Amino acid sequence: MDIDRIRGQTPGLKTVNHLLASGSALMPEPVIDAICDHIKREARIGGYEAAAEMAAPLCGVYDDVARLINATPQEIALLENATAAWCQAFYSLPLKQGDRIITCQAEYAANYVAYLQRAKTHGVIIEVVPNDEYGALDIAALELMLQKPAALISITWIPTNGGLVNPAAAVGALARKYKVPYLLDACQAVGQMPVDVAAIGCDYLTATGRKFLRGPRGSGFLFIREDLIEAHEPAMIDHFAAPWVEAGRYELRKDARRFENWENAYALRAGLGAAVRYALDIGIENIQQRAWGLADYCRQQISEIKGAKLRDVGQQKSAIVSFTIEGLQPDDAVSKLGKRGICIGSSDPDSTLLDAKARGLPTVLRAAPHYYNTKADIDTMIAALKEGL
Ligand SMILES: Cc1ncc(COP(=O)(O)O)c(C=O)c1O
Repeated sequence: MDIDRIRGQTPGLKTVNHLLASGSALMPEPVIDAICDHIKREARIGGYEAAAEMAAPLCGVYDDVARLINATPQEIALLENATAAWCQAFYSLPLKQGDRIITCQAEYAANYVAYLQRAKTHGVIIEVVPNDEYGALDIAALELMLQKPAALISITWIPTNGGLVNPAAAVGALARKYKVPYLLDACQAVGQMPVDVAAIGCDYLTATGRKFLRGPRGSGFLFIREDLIEAHEPAMIDHFAAPWVEAGRYELRKDARRFENWENAYALRAGLGAAVRYALDIGIENIQQRAWGLADYCRQQISEIKGAKLRDVGQQKSAIVSFTIEGLQPDDAVSKLGKRGICIGSSDPDSTLLDAKARGLPTVLRAAPHYYNTKADIDTMIAALKEGL
């Protein structure tokens, strides 16, 4: 990996020591250019005309995303964020009274409140797979839970609040074995590790552009397995998703774009495509190796700070490092580090409430180095934390 070139193509690094790819990573120049070029084109010739002129490359974004996750372009819908993508899949599932939704302890708040809503409106039952001794979803426990019929397995792969990597592919194998639909929130995984929907065995997968993929805010996508598309009536449609073919009838599109609307942020789509191509050019395995290596280094350095406690669980740990330091208020630390040009974040208990309660977690600090960071970036953060900021 040509780290000097990569850093040179990341203008944000000139102003900030950014260690929060799990929040919103720094965009590289090709992404910024793709977005700005399209905006300028819209300003020059008009929005509709710009989309028409760029129709082929914009259509190519579906191929880019499909290539990233080993899907086909027909299986991809581009949406404005991961939550919109996730909700499109979830609310199209015909769940009814008594149906069991099986989820994980580290489930993301946005997903869990949607389960709660469908418990309220449809009477579904939410069941949570216990964790194994390392703090990851317990596969043996899940298999036991699948001895009774389940309507959906829906889990988060890498949670918002730390380095845990849930065993997404092992869950997929069970989902296949017991023929249970499987929705995977891969929001924090895409861009930092290989994602292969065929190898995972998921039916639906959702992700965002702005995190480890280094795309723009306001971009995300949904994957839905091709043979399932026609069985899914989106909860909300428009005349793009479902052309109005006769006065009393619409016809849903045959591809995953039945989950999209007519109007879109084409500049951001162009940016998303550029981000995917940029990541693929560098190589996702290379990205993972460097980002996860930096995160390990970060954990090792944090463990040497007096009063610090690492909060990441699981045998395998991603590029998200969560920790607390005795006597240090996380929000205060984030703000003071910010004033010194160092960007990290925090995660409150209510974004992963079940996990926070089970582990007695307070608000935790969250650092997420990406491959464009260096050990020196981490050392600077560690020095500031050791100085008490
Ligand atoms: C695990 C997880 N899922 C989903 C989301 C939602 O992503 P978005 O903000 O793009 O909707 C997040 C955002 O932090 C997340 O951490």
